[in-house]
Amino acid sequence: MTLADRRILLVIGGGIAAYKSLDLIRRLRERGASVRCVLTAGAQRFVTPLAASALSGQRSHTDLFDREDEAEIGHIRLARDADMVVVAPATANLMARMASGAADDLASTVLLATTLPILLAPAMNVRMWQHPATQRNLARLLADGVHVVGPNDGAMAEAEHGPGRLAEPAEIADAVERVLSQNGVMLRSEPRGSRLEAPSAVGAFFETPRAQPGAPQDDAGGLTALPLAGRRMLVTSGPTHEPIDPVRYIANRSSGRQGHAIAAAAAAAGAAVTLVSGPVAIPDPPGVTVVRVESAREMLAAVQATLPAEIAIFAAAVADWRAANEAGQKIKKDDKRRSRGLQLIENPDILATIAHRKEGRPALVVGFAAETENVVEHARAKLARKGCDLIVANDVAPESGVMGGTRNSVHLVTPDGVETWPTLDKEEVARRLVARLADMLDAQRRTGG
Ligand code: CTP
Repeated sequence: MTLADRRILLVIGGGIAAYKSLDLIRRLRERGASVRCVLTAGAQRFVTPLAASALSGQRSHTDLFDREDEAEIGHIRLARDADMVVVAPATANLMARMASGAADDLASTVLLATTLPILLAPAMNVRMWQHPATQRNLARLLADGVHVVGPNDGAMAEAEHGPGRLAEPAEIADAVERVLSQNGVMLRSEPRGSRLEAPSAVGAFFETPRAQPGAPQDDAGGLTALPLAGRRMLVTSGPTHEPIDPVRYIANRSSGRQGHAIAAAAAAAGAAVTLVSGPVAIPDPPGVTVVRVESAREMLAAVQATLPAEIAIFAAAVADWRAANEAGQKIKKDDKRRSRGLQLIENPDILATIAHRKEGRPALVVGFAAETENVVEHARAKLARKGCDLIVANDVAPESGVMGGTRNSVHLVTPDGVETWPTLDKEEVARRLVARLADMLDAQRRTGG
């Protein structure tokens, strides 16, 4: 019983995924937790308070001004008498109200009044999820210390496809466990440096909810607006194309999704982001300056022109080799070059060039390691060889579906240790990575490193 004696306040938002919250109640109770439900007016169009009460074994709450309710357990007690609050499904509207601090019904009032950890499980139409307003609200909520699980990719109710599906009840229950154990770690006030060995965070910008000591402060002593506000970040993304002749090139299967998602997440976290991208078929991320390049040498030049930056993330799948003699004209079938074979020379290593800079090195240099075997071992070697601060290692064996796909399984490798994350959407990997980097930068600043 991994959640024995834990008390969960479950806020059910008004969306088609609300029916899954009933299953979530079951899952949480199976693990030993007690669950009390608050339903928004919208939620009650999809599930009834009676169903939630029957499954939770406790009276459900719906009305801020219910006299009976207030006499029995007021909204302030609801906001306090639990170990954490889970919002599932967290609709776009509920997220917007939370981000703005609204308190116009029982659910939003409880969410504003609580100081408990909050886990959101967003669910909405893919376009609503991707809308800059929702992404802005998400960034705001993450900066406030709220934890997030999902949304997952997949088919949606409106016959659309993409991120927006509620995380599965078992995934949400797993996330509840992680948030609670993570809080346990912080309550025992372990040094932040030990974090790499701790269970992975659930999309939190700061490991504990709310204004914990050590979160970045502005001059007035309040929390800064966004964790990367005022920071400059450089991200490389996509493949490079190395020309053989005017119509042919050497390339790889990188889609640019992971690098672009990182740029988007960093911009949402307040950073001024320049994305140096190889040729990709995906849209530019919102709020980011994009520099388009083709070859590794162009990418290096663009990176050098973009620096200085505090954080540089090298997510591009740069071609290691290029044709030694790029032909000025299309190579014909009977050309003698063909019979000699293609001559290759090595490209500059952009990451290593920047990481080994004596002057103007970004405070945090992050590399990726795309491996098809011995992932962590190779990543450790790369960390040392390339001189970076962190390597995000991923398995790109064809059966993993990572290259060109929408999900990623990564290991974070630093000189201090290895942290393995579950398989996540590339957007979620990006959010967590950006959160982690904001924290690392903050820790560096505190220690004067
Ligand atoms: N990288 C780079 N410039 C290159 C090659 C790689 O900046 N010419 C960066 C990538 O963006 C990535 C990291 O180095 O962050 C590792 O890339 P990867 O292809 O995994 O490693 P390689 O250096 O190519 O090593 P190997 O081919 O032995 O795996």
